[in-house]
Amino acid sequence: MNKKLSETFSAQINKEYFSAFLYLGMSNWFNQKGLRGMANWTYVQYQEELAHAQNLHHYMQYRNESVTLSQIDDPSGSWQSPLEVFRHVLKHEQYVTESINNLATVALKANDHAAYNFMQWYVSEQVEEEANANDIIDRLVLSGDNSNALLMIDDQLGARTFAAPVVPGLPAGA
Ligand code: FEO
Repeated sequence: MNKKLSETFSAQINKEYFSAFLYLGMSNWFNQKGLRGMANWTYVQYQEELAHAQNLHHYMQYRNESVTLSQIDDPSGSWQSPLEVFRHVLKHEQYVTESINNLATVALKANDHAAYNFMQWYVSEQVEEEANANDIIDRLVLSGDNSNALLMIDDQLGARTFAAPVVPGLPAGA
């Protein structure tokens, strides 16, 4: 793997761990507001982000590449409403999409088709990540100031469960 590609993988691993911490912070915020369903949804997202980071890390180990681990930025944020939190989610995922696309482009430019193929799962995952955020934002906008509607959305988000993603291109059991 060329140096630039290896460094870009390491940077992406850091971003995925940052994402995990960001969602953990959001989960804490929702929990403090008594919105247990949204606290659950963002906690499941925290678990997903950990899996994203771990699978990128596994891939680098599989390729016998070293990984540079660097400090994770402070993820703490302050929000005024659930809608503001989910708008932050969407903005953050759009940033991650750009970063994932960049990593895939770096792989392609390095003529590393294996890494490019590996990244395609992440490219598709980002479509889902943005769609999920957009869907929740739409529902929150529709609910307006109606607290019954807000609690109904909260209930729905409480049903989300974590399923470890299976990413093609990793050895069995990774
Ligand atoms: Fe790992 Fe939310 O993207």
